[in-house]
Amino acid sequence: MVTRSGRCRSDTRKFQMKNSHLTGAFRFSVAPMMDWTDRHCRFFHRLLTRHALLYTEMITAEAIIHGDRQKLLAFSPEERPLALQVGGSDPRRLAIAAQIGAGFGYDEINLNVGCPSDRVQEGRFGACLMAEPHLVADCVAAMREVCGVPVTVKCRIGIDDQDSEAGLERFVSTVAAAGCSTFVVHARKAWLQGLSPRENRDVPPLDYGRVHRLKAAHPGLTVIINGGIRSLDEAEGHLGRVDGVMLGRAAYERPYLLAEVDRRFFGAAEPPVTRREAIERLVPYIERHLAAGGRLNAVSRHVLGLYHAQPGGRAFRRHLSGPGLRDSTGLHALEKALAAVSPTGAVSYRRAAA
Ligand SMILES: Cc1cc2nc3c(=O)[nH]c(=O)nc-3n(C[C@H](O)[C@H](O)[C@H](O)COP(=O)(O)O)c2cc1C
Repeated sequence: MVTRSGRCRSDTRKFQMKNSHLTGAFRFSVAPMMDWTDRHCRFFHRLLTRHALLYTEMITAEAIIHGDRQKLLAFSPEERPLALQVGGSDPRRLAIAAQIGAGFGYDEINLNVGCPSDRVQEGRFGACLMAEPHLVADCVAAMREVCGVPVTVKCRIGIDDQDSEAGLERFVSTVAAAGCSTFVVHARKAWLQGLSPRENRDVPPLDYGRVHRLKAAHPGLTVIINGGIRSLDEAEGHLGRVDGVMLGRAAYERPYLLAEVDRRFFGAAEPPVTRREAIERLVPYIERHLAAGGRLNAVSRHVLGLYHAQPGGRAFRRHLSGPGLRDSTGLHALEKALAAVSPTGAVSYRRAAA
């Protein structure tokens, strides 16, 4: 049987999870996003897709070494396969951070070579490291030596005036020689001066061809394409020319698209979870979070887009983003939000679940 991407079904099955949490998970991933892909967000995304690879937000090596590790690194086992993204440029410090991350059970450690923010540049890491392939290679080598899980790199196609195909080629071959075999490439360059991080996600034009050619030139590497991919059809269109796709904003803003990922990218046979089922499965998690002293908003803010473009979707969103919600310690707002999208006007998720 041939899937929409033109692959045989048996080919697709090869990518199904077997022994390792990580096997083939790179085919579809949700991007690291600061302040967005925290553990609550990832737990929710995992209810929609069992197989996609999820990423943490970027955490700096120094924060991992000196900060509250439990707070920064703890996650629910259900979130796996899960990659920890780290930021830094000192090989020894990154090695320590990678070892700590691997000790927490992350399946992969990813080095951020794509963030253009001033703060990150001051620390001489993120996208500015694209100009220092040998330093990145040293970082990767040091991390690999101690952490025992794959070390991968997320980068851009170029920075500033170093925007040539030769520059990307030099960067990738140098870092690959240090043992990095997986590159996530955001298919636009970053301007380190003059554009905010947000503008750097939209203004520089996308050049998917360059990422496709990178894969063609390095068939032995795993190349994941990222940037501006808004739908699963678009994502599937890249497979065959690269090994995987990573979605950021589209997955966060319209999370229900993740519900089709297991069938379309991993050959899963089960029907996709419904929106309602996803919420019902999230409720016990929220209850545990509230019982531990947490606020509803910390979890529910990630769910706002679940009913995007659905009847009642706006009311759902409004109930979960009202001003009083920040301090809410009960499920009341969630119940109201669910009533807004329930065809019968049912008032409680419990009744609906019964
Ligand atoms: C709110 C936000 C925070 C982000 N934080 C990170 C980050 O911590 N590390 C990183 O490598 N990229 C970060 N990114 C960039 C994304 O990972 C991704 O490369 C970018 O959004 C392009 O993909 P998209 O068009 O599918 O969103 C962030 C993006 C957004 C929107």
